[in-house]
Amino acid sequence: MISTAILEQIQKEETPLYYYDLPLLRTTVSTAKTAADQWGYQIHYAVKANNNPRILQEISALGLGADCVSGLEIETAIAHGFDAESIVFAGVGKTEKEIRLALSQGILAFNVESLEELQVISTLAQTMNVSASVALRINPNIDANTHHYITTGLDENKFGIMMHELEDCLSLIHAKESALTLVGLHFHVGSQITDWSVFKRLCLKVNEWNTWFIERGITVPILNVGGGVGINYQNPDEEAVVDFADFFALFHRFLEPKPGQQVHFELGRSLVANCGSLLSRVLYIKRGLNKNFAILDAGMTELLRPALYQAYHHIQCLRPSDSPSEETETYDVVGPICESSDCFGKNVILPTLVRGDLIAIRSAGAYGEVMSSRYNLRQPLQFYFEE
Ligand SMILES: Cc1ncc(COP(=O)(O)O)c(C=O)c1O
Repeated sequence: MISTAILEQIQKEETPLYYYDLPLLRTTVSTAKTAADQWGYQIHYAVKANNNPRILQEISALGLGADCVSGLEIETAIAHGFDAESIVFAGVGKTEKEIRLALSQGILAFNVESLEELQVISTLAQTMNVSASVALRINPNIDANTHHYITTGLDENKFGIMMHELEDCLSLIHAKESALTLVGLHFHVGSQITDWSVFKRLCLKVNEWNTWFIERGITVPILNVGGGVGINYQNPDEEAVVDFADFFALFHRFLEPKPGQQVHFELGRSLVANCGSLLSRVLYIKRGLNKNFAILDAGMTELLRPALYQAYHHIQCLRPSDSPSEETETYDVVGPICESSDCFGKNVILPTLVRGDLIAIRSAGAYGEVMSSRYNLRQPLQFYFEE
């Protein structure tokens, strides 16, 4: 929630603008870390959710590791305070250049997604005369009950090592023991998971896989169970911070690491989504035959999620709290981009809008700024950080 004092300052700023509430970010990350610490769990922040330098600095300062999906994410994370030894590197399509970079930085682990990738990592590690620490990403075939574009843990998804390749992966690791060190098993079932029974099912699957490896004489040091914790997009003020204590307690209850095995998480959205809002001004009101359009100066180029996944974001009009209570109207809230999918919300009830009104599109801190584009040659984004 933006305070009246901050609102006065923001009124002078150009829009579209990403507003970041850094105190809320600190509270969220500290709450998550304290809850994880209670069970000795470690969190890697999924940099893909938001790589804004200010956000990275805040999160690294609070002692989290990083989960990266490209060479540039690794370099950016290190430049903004994350230790290389706390970085995991995921992604189905790592290039040789990226693998070499990660090897030279001495990262904690590659989350390996295929047999062929493992072969390439082993060859490159051999030529560089180093040992690559690898975690095998196993596809647990669990339905995350979320949007199909952010479901990753089903057999039909491209992620993770296929079961029939696992034995070959182990043989390769055995054969190349100077170049490959198996440090973990990695799982991730999807994003924006609000049905926590999914995580219980994940724990049970991880236990089964852990046993499968132990039966083959291998106790890996790390069980990495990924991220995916959903947030409340409907009520960002009532539930600004996820109940992390409950989340980690669930893992404590159902996951059965063996003595000495560490448990790692890769949280993105749940750490950063609610600290960000996209602020935009109403350019025009268009009165159609059956509906009203509020046309904003922000569009899918600034926040792609609604166009990409039909994602819901809470939309509100920001006016000083002493404004007289107003009539409301229903609007389709749209952007200026030449695409019909450029719509932030349909049939949104808002106070009767006029040109120049300031609109907040809430919970835009995750997968917002990072997915912005220059399509239509849009102006670079503006930022406001509440300290
Ligand atoms: C492998 C992996 N780990 C972690 C995350 C972070 O997920 P979330 O932002 O939902 O916590 C993702 C997101 O897609 C991912 O693919």
